[in-house]
Amino acid sequence: MEFYEVVKKRRSIRAYKPDPIPEEILLRILETARLAPSAKNIQPWKFIVVKDRVVKEKLVTACRNQTFIGEAPVVICAVALKNIAFGRMGGYWNSYPVDVAIALEHIVLAATNEGLGTCWIGAYDENAVKELLKIPEDVQVIALTPLGYPKEIPNARPRKSLSEIVSFDYFKE
Ligand SMILES: Cc1cc2nc3c(=O)[nH]c(=O)nc-3n(C[C@H](O)[C@H](O)[C@H](O)COP(=O)(O)O)c2cc1C
Repeated sequence: MEFYEVVKKRRSIRAYKPDPIPEEILLRILETARLAPSAKNIQPWKFIVVKDRVVKEKLVTACRNQTFIGEAPVVICAVALKNIAFGRMGGYWNSYPVDVAIALEHIVLAATNEGLGTCWIGAYDENAVKELLKIPEDVQVIALTPLGYPKEIPNARPRKSLSEIVSFDYFKE
């Protein structure tokens, strides 16, 4: 798919077919996370690919009972290795949320390109997700996404206009 078409076609998908994802497609998508940029090229991330039905069902509970997550054949949990991330972005803050978000969005767009659906999941109980996926204490959950073939593709949601979000030369209200 042409790049701008991928960006335009991406939606948050909240209904999935049970069809499995061919392994080569899954690996192709994950490879785009590996290639993502990160502060100082530290790559402070891991991606936990959950296929086990029982674990997925427990993830649904840990994600505020968003049942569509469990419909997808795969759920990806993106986590940050915050202890190794660049701690002084702009001189004062840690880059890990930015680093991991970029990499996960690579996955999201690559999935769209493959005809697969995703949905950023930020509504989760971090302790529950960490316990379930055996994530160490010093590693932070950034977001999850189901990954699977869409059952329903919603219409595009509205966005602010370009003039509302872009200013030239200086910040403008
Ligand atoms: C950081 C983040 C967290 C989100 N968390 C959830 C979530 O927990 N559940 C959900 O259904 N959608 C979630 N979304 C999806 C947004 O609701 C969605 O991106 C937005 O409404 C725009 O719709 P679109 O993605 O279809 O363009 C999240 C999106 C982002 C970027």
